Order: sequence, then structure tokens, then C-alpha cells
Amino acid sequence: MYKDYVNVIVMDHPLIKHKISLLRDKDTGTNEFRKLVEEIAMLEAFEAFRDLPLKDVEVETPIEKCISPVIEGKKLAVVPILRAGLGMVNGITALVPTAKVGHVGLYRDPETHEPHEYYCKLPEPIDQRLIVVIDPMLATGGSAVAAVDYIKKRGGKAIKFLCIIAAPEGVKRLAEAHPDIEIYIGNVDRELNEDAYICPGLGDAGDRIFGTK
Ligand code: PRP
Ligand code: URA
Repeated sequence: MYKDYVNVIVMDHPLIKHKISLLRDKDTGTNEFRKLVEEIAMLEAFEAFRDLPLKDVEVETPIEKCISPVIEGKKLAVVPILRAGLGMVNGITALVPTAKVGHVGLYRDPETHEPHEYYCKLPEPIDQRLIVVIDPMLATGGSAVAAVDYIKKRGGKAIKFLCIIAAPEGVKRLAEAHPDIEIYIGNVDRELNEDAYICPGLGDAGDRIFGTK
């Protein structure tokens, strides 16, 4: 069904699939879980940054001068959705150390499952940056839609969304609310349960990253 949306890219790399299986395991502890989230974020970002513009510069090798391409220097903003999105930041800034980091704080009401915003700070000029919004989980899609709405209201234009596991319901909601953004997903799982948790999923990503319960 996500194949209906041209802006949805589901990862098919075996390393990502393997690491997601390790994440799912209830016996994977906090330390290992954090490491895996970072690694998967890095692998997904590698794919999401495929279209970064390049420019030629002159480089002097030990042998001779040559013209060689470097990233053009488009301003990047990585924006984790708090809390769980924080777990993906280091994986992405390892690839692009000059990226600025903004934050959008949202939590899901446990009864209604609707997102509530409690914090937002974005690097300026946000309208001139490529913005990568990150959150390991896309469940109902409420948090992702609210975060992108908010960033657009502040002037954000070029936006990509990266998550590790998504439910079909969340993919549909985000892809339809924001058809202009690219959505990168590690795996689309079966469904949401009555508590709006992803099945089979990996449980509560924030709790598993931060060791809370
Ligand atoms: C989780 C997750 C997403 C959201 C996804 O955060 O990290 O932000 O739920 O659910 P949705 O697609 O139905 O909105 P949560 O609200 O549990 O907060 P936390 O990251 O602070 O644990
Ligand atoms: N948030 C999570 O952390 N896990 C889910 O399965 C759904 C929302």
C-alpha cells in the first residue's frame, strides 16, 4: 500500500533489515539498542542524502592537482522529534558534522494518542536549509504530521522525514498530509494495536533508548 505513494522510500538494504531485527528483540539492552538506532540512522541518511548537490574544487594530491567534487555546502538541519528522535542524531551528524540540530518536543497523549507540543527550537535561516526530521517510530503519524506542520509554519520548505519502523496507518497519514516531503522508512510493519503501538514493532522507542519505563 505504501507503494501507492511516490514520496515514500522503504529501505531494502540487508544491513538495515538485520539491525532492525536486533532492535526488535526484547532482550536487546539499552546500550546495544542506542548503538543500533545510531547505525540504522546513519545507513538511512546515506540513502536520503543521495541527491545532495556537489561542486567541483581543486585538490592537490601527493601526485598532482585535480578537480574533484565536494558537497556544495547546502545548509542542513537535523530535527529530532523528542525524545526518541534524539537517539538518531549522532548517526546523522557523523556523516554531516556541519549540520545544525533543531528540536521539536511532542508527546502522545496515552488516551487519545494525539500529539502535544511542548518545545520547539529550529536553526535559522530555516527556510534556506534542507531539513531532516527524525523519529524512530511512525505509528498513527500524528507526531510526524504535527512536527512537519510546525516546521513549515516557521518557514521550512525542503523537508525529508526519516524513521526506522512505520505502521501502514502512519505512512498513509504522513504521505497524504505532506506529499511534498520524502519519507524514508527502515521497515513497514503489519499494523497498530488498540494502544496505537506498532506490531510487531520494538515497543516504546523512547523508553528503550533512555532506559526509562
Ligand atoms: C513516540 C515516537 C513518536 C511517536 C509516534 O514518542 O517516538 O514520536 O510516539 O507515534 P505517532 O505516530 O502515533 O504520533 P512518544 O510520544 O512516546 O514520546 P517519547 O519519544 O518522549 O517517548
Ligand atoms: N511509539 C513507540 O515508541 N512505539 C510504538 O510502537 C508506537 C509509538
